[in-house]
Amino acid sequence: MQKLVIKGGTALEGEIPLRGAKNSALPLMAATLLCKGETVLENCPRLTDVFSACRILTHTGCRCAMKEHTVVVCADSIKLSEIPESMMQEMRSSIVFLGALLGKTGSCRVYYPGGCELGPRPIDLHIEALCRMGARIERCEGRLDCYAPEGLSGCNIHLKFPSVGATENVMLAAVLAKGETVISNAAREPEICDLAEFLRKCGALIKGDGESTIRIQGVKELRGCTHRIMPDRIAGITYLSAVAVTGGKLKLLGAKDARMDNVLPVLEQAGCRIDKANDAMYLCAPKRLRAVSRLRTMPHPGFPTDVQAIIMALMTVAKGVSVFEENIFECRYRHVDGLVQMGAEIYVSGRIAVVNGVNRLCGAHVAATDLRGGAALVIAGLAAEGTTEVRQVHHIDRGYETIEKTLEGVGANILRISQ
Ligand code: EPZ
Repeated sequence: MQKLVIKGGTALEGEIPLRGAKNSALPLMAATLLCKGETVLENCPRLTDVFSACRILTHTGCRCAMKEHTVVVCADSIKLSEIPESMMQEMRSSIVFLGALLGKTGSCRVYYPGGCELGPRPIDLHIEALCRMGARIERCEGRLDCYAPEGLSGCNIHLKFPSVGATENVMLAAVLAKGETVISNAAREPEICDLAEFLRKCGALIKGDGESTIRIQGVKELRGCTHRIMPDRIAGITYLSAVAVTGGKLKLLGAKDARMDNVLPVLEQAGCRIDKANDAMYLCAPKRLRAVSRLRTMPHPGFPTDVQAIIMALMTVAKGVSVFEENIFECRYRHVDGLVQMGAEIYVSGRIAVVNGVNRLCGAHVAATDLRGGAALVIAGLAAEGTTEVRQVHHIDRGYETIEKTLEGVGANILRISQ
């Protein structure tokens, strides 16, 4: 068990390099299963979820090696079309291996996935879509036995909700299917575009990614390629916020293509100056942040649910009242208890959270309950007077590469301690 010990109150200043996006890296790693020959993924973050994906690939018989920030995969030697329950439970993204394995081998056995507990996270849309494409999926005691002996066939798939994971799963299943698949009400998140761009480089025929209708014409085979994973927009906002809460200055390197445009205006409204030049983004924060107008989480291009906790941490010390409305997940205010323990004034009622900014937070002993909520507690700890301890760091390690080193590099007093 490890914890982060933070002594807050120092204005942070310096540079942080932005790595590739976790939520892009994981479906891309699943996609490597579909390719012949070698695939090279560059700018891959060194995260526990990425290591889990490497283990899944290796388990199926693929060659998968990660050296620094490059992952090399060769799926030519794939032997097993089955992922053990323990591996599926390590993260939510394990479920995108379903579409890839089924598309590649015509049958697979997987289990319900794990991941952050944000309320119910069903996979009905994934299953319904794959069944429409001709798969037979039998559910038994948490296990999914999936068959498509004749191969999958393209068809029209309308998603009731623009689910990111379901869109990715259908894309992975459709690239090698017979005929055309048309996904309507598809997710439009930037990570969907990164997956489509990768698949096109491998030979797939995909149009419309980034829009609500994606068209995929199945091809006979895909060949591995070299792809640089898009920068992590959620990590980018986290680091900008970590510095902003301390009234500091940041140069965020590698941020040019990070697609943060739906959140940067919020930081500007809070009083931060943001400039872009070449591949970097510069943030200069005021001494005290201002409250922002009501934030409603929505599918992309709306305000992302993944930064709701992060911006809430900022608003705990901003001047004025901010209101949040969480519309994607039922249980995504689990960080509120920790923030309140640190002196924040937050009132939650159903999907609404009202934050009355206080003059100062005080260090406290708190626990991360999920990835972004954990990052929010770290941000609050950087602003708080005194010492904050954040337990359950494994949640944070799923999405931030050695967060203590990154923040130490810009002047934070933060240590990781093994208990
Ligand atoms: C992805 O999760 C991200 N994870 C999440 O980021 C992110 O919060 C989420 O998209 C929304 O942007 C990864 O990319 C690995 P969804 P995903 O399917 O794909 C409902 C992080 O912090 N739904 O778009 O699981 C679901 O219950 C993580 O990095 C169904 O009802 O999200 C939820 O309410 C956390 N049936 C909504 O849709 C389904 O079959 C959005 O889920 C699928 C989803």
